[in-house]
Amino acid sequence: MLLEVRDLHVEFHTRDGVAKAVNGVNYSVAEGETLAVLGESGSGKSVTAQAVMGILDMPPGKISSGEILFKDQDLLKLKGEERRKIRGQEMAMIFQDALSSLNPVLSVGEQIGELFTVHRGMSRKDAKAKAVELMDRVRIPAAKERVGQYPHQFSGGMRQRIMIAMALALEPSLIIADEPTTALDVTVQAQVMDLLAELQRELNMGLILITHDLGVVADVADKIAVMYAGRIVETSPVHEIYKAPAHPYTKGLLQSIPRLDQKGQELYAIKGLPPNLLRIPPGCAFNPRCPMAQDVCRTDVPPLAQVSETRQSACHFWKETLDAR
Ligand SMILES: Nc1ncnc2c1ncn2[C@@H]1O[C@H](COP(=O)(O)OP(=O)(O)OP(=O)(O)O)[C@@H](O)[C@H]1O
Ligand code: SF4
Ligand SMILES: [Mg+2]
Repeated sequence: MLLEVRDLHVEFHTRDGVAKAVNGVNYSVAEGETLAVLGESGSGKSVTAQAVMGILDMPPGKISSGEILFKDQDLLKLKGEERRKIRGQEMAMIFQDALSSLNPVLSVGEQIGELFTVHRGMSRKDAKAKAVELMDRVRIPAAKERVGQYPHQFSGGMRQRIMIAMALALEPSLIIADEPTTALDVTVQAQVMDLLAELQRELNMGLILITHDLGVVADVADKIAVMYAGRIVETSPVHEIYKAPAHPYTKGLLQSIPRLDQKGQELYAIKGLPPNLLRIPPGCAFNPRCPMAQDVCRTDVPPLAQVSETRQSACHFWKETLDAR
């Protein structure tokens, strides 16, 4: 397995108390595989990704337990230098907002090229040629002419392509894309997502795609992990989850996607709000919002149960949920 996150716990020590942001996350990504991570705002998607990438703010963050196995090596046991090397060469991250991730005072060519001078010892001239090649590869028109331009001279979609180019530059084996298209216009979103998916296939990279958009996921992901209050509540191959969710929360998320054949009908919304992470409810964290909740849900934390060889659900009533489709 390329990446395996095991029972990861992350907390934030704040003035108001300890926010339990990640509470026993388990997920894995194989070479060439795309894992989509879904869940409402605050469910711990980004914090988990930052822990994998090694860029968590510590303090206030703290990884209190767990393992992050990358090519069978626990990243949490590595020393600073070894860790930095893996982060720089084997993994890359793409963020939502290219403008704040790119350096405004360096040309895009210099920023892409720097990866090759620093990590591959290339001359500046060769690195610039590499930058043009990569810009071509992510289909930035007139790459040769634009390589000397600055981030603000590009449109949002083009900047996102530049971030993708930088992420791919050293041919990492894992890419983490944290809502890579959220800030873009709808038409541009699809183009950027298609490009990312295409390059990922070509280079056989593992991809963790964090998104709110269940519509996008169906086209590009192999499997899905649904997060709620810092836990994975369901994992499944992508097509099975659309046919029949095994967790009421997933079911709620699926019902709240707008559908073309139901235009004009009021959109379903899961009632209530995600819990305050300083005070996660006992039992199943979803119980105050769950239409299927019973007494046991208010006292016992549901274990992540094996629904089939490839699916898991953390619900006491996963069987009933599957049957009730
Ligand atoms: N630097 C920080 N200091 C304190 N708490 C933090 C910090 N970063 C994250 N958290 C806590 O962790 C929780 C989970 O955050 P995370 O960014 O992982 O959510 P997310 O699932 O990525 O949400 P979104 O969809 O909004 O990006 C937050 O609600 C917050 O309580
Ligand atoms: S364990 Fe209970 S409250 Fe939680 S999702 Fe299942 S039915 Fe709902
Ligand atoms: Mg996030």
